Amino acid sequence: MHKSPIGIFDSGVGGLTIYEEIHRLLPHENIIYLADSKNAPYGEKSKEEIIAISVKNTEFLLSHDCKLIVVACNTASTNAVKFLRENYDIPFIRVQPAIKPAALKSKTKVVGILATKSTLNSELLFETSQRFAQGVDVVEKVGEGLVSLIESGDMHSPEMTDLLNKHIQPMLEKNIDHLVLGCTHYPFLTDQIKEIVGDKVGIIDSGEAIARQTKVILQGENLINPESGEINRVFYTNKDPQVMQKILDEFDEGFKAIKTDF
Ligand code: DGL
Repeated sequence: MHKSPIGIFDSGVGGLTIYEEIHRLLPHENIIYLADSKNAPYGEKSKEEIIAISVKNTEFLLSHDCKLIVVACNTASTNAVKFLRENYDIPFIRVQPAIKPAALKSKTKVVGILATKSTLNSELLFETSQRFAQGVDVVEKVGEGLVSLIESGDMHSPEMTDLLNKHIQPMLEKNIDHLVLGCTHYPFLTDQIKEIVGDKVGIIDSGEAIARQTKVILQGENLINPESGEINRVFYTNKDPQVMQKILDEFDEGFKAIKTDF
C-alpha cells in the first residue's frame, strides 16, 4: 500500500498547481493525476452533477490503485467530498479557499475572494467565512470565464487581461488588502494578477497548505512511501493533451500528458 500512488483530480489542469506543492513536499510519492477537462468548467454545474462526476473520477483513480485522493478542485471539494468520504474507505483531502489566513493578515479588514459561482454559493464557504472571518468584510467575485480560457490554453491573451481587470478592479475599489484565489486554476495567473493589484495586496492560494495536510494524513495512516527508488508520475487528460503538455513542459521533468478516453 505504501507504494500505491496518490490520486489527484481536477476539472482540468488547475489541480497541477496543487500537484506542484505535493511533489515539492513529498518527493518520494508515486502520483496519478487526472484532468477531467472534458467536463470543465465544474463551476456552473449543479451539486448532483458535480457529485456524479467526482464519483467517476474517484473510480478511475481507484482502478489505478490509489491509496489517497486529493480533490484538487475547490468546486468538487465543496460539493462532493462529504459524499466521497461517506462512500469510500480511503482518505480524501479537500481544498478550501484560504479565507482564514487572509482574514488573519488583513489590516484593512477587507479581503477579496475570486472563485467559481458554485464555490462561492457553497455552504462550506459560508461556514468558513462565518468561523474565520468575523469582523472582516469578504468581497466575493465569480471568476467568470477564467477556467475556460485557461483550459483552452489561452492563459496570456489580451482577453485574459481584460477579464482579470474586470473581476479584480471592483474589489480594489473596496480596499481589499488580500486576495484569495479560491480556484486551483487561478495560481497560474498569479503574475498577471500581481500586475493588476500591485504590491499592496497579498495573493493567497491553498497549494502549500493542502500539501502539508496530505503529508499529515499519510503519516497518520502510515501510508508514506519510504522508498527513494524510481518514482512514477502519470498525467491523464480526457481532452486535448497539448494544453496539459505545455504546463508539464514548464515543470521540466520530461512528463508526458496521456490522453485517456475516460
Ligand atoms: N479548479 C477548479 C476549482 O478549483 C475549477 C472549477 C471549474 O471547473 O469550474 O474550482
